[in-house]
Amino acid sequence: MKLLFIGDIVGSPGREIVKDYVPRLKRKYAPDLIVVNGENSAHGRGITRKIANELFQVGVQAITMGNHTWDNREVFDFIDEDSRIVRPANFPEGTPGRGLTYVQTHVGEVAIINVQGRTFLPPLMCPFETAERLVEEARKRTKFIFVDVHAEATSEKQALGWYLDGKISAMVGTHTHVQTGDERILPNGTGYITDAGMCGPTDGILGMERSAVIKKFLTQLPVRFEVAEGPTQLNGVLFTLDNSTGKTKKIDRIRIDAACPFME
Ligand SMILES: [Fe+2]
Ligand SMILES: [Fe+2]
Repeated sequence: MKLLFIGDIVGSPGREIVKDYVPRLKRKYAPDLIVVNGENSAHGRGITRKIANELFQVGVQAITMGNHTWDNREVFDFIDEDSRIVRPANFPEGTPGRGLTYVQTHVGEVAIINVQGRTFLPPLMCPFETAERLVEEARKRTKFIFVDVHAEATSEKQALGWYLDGKISAMVGTHTHVQTGDERILPNGTGYITDAGMCGPTDGILGMERSAVIKKFLTQLPVRFEVAEGPTQLNGVLFTLDNSTGKTKKIDRIRIDAACPFME
């Protein structure tokens, strides 16, 4: 089982590089499942029905979210009915949408879980307890379990990786938009990376137009951030899972600069 995860898609530049490169990545790696993080896909804030459909059309089978899940109000119109969209599971009871979903592939069913960290982010329910409960639930149904931990602190993501090692197939961190070079297979077989990185403008700050971000740091006044322009990049991770155990056999970090030639 090959699972391709693509990190936070930022606005139209992020969507464009995903649409452009997913067909090529499919030819090169032949993934059985493609999951993306879509929390910034609509102008950097949230997601719309149209954008979700565009991503599904290129072959994405599930979209994880994060702290920007609710930024575009349109999400409330479809998050309950579309089981392919997964928001952080540790929002309070009764929050629209779901934090665990299942996607059918030709190798078997894959459970996809999204949780959000609480360090330097709003105080949701405990991501450790929530993830553990959902992993137990998912293990009754499948050995393929993938978790997107949407968190700011590298320590919180590492802690969750070690906490879930051996209970899940793979975990990626998202939210910080900067790909980390620490991909590895933990001792009990869980594939892990602290942050998958983002898809969007290379010369922005986390994908946003940089003069506004610098102004914010200098003045501490409210500033409206816009998605940056210019060259783009795509960041992600390819996990190869053992079909009999569900554990990670191989983990490959993917980083594509649209300006550079892509080897197929
Ligand atoms: Fe993000
Ligand atoms: Fe985020």
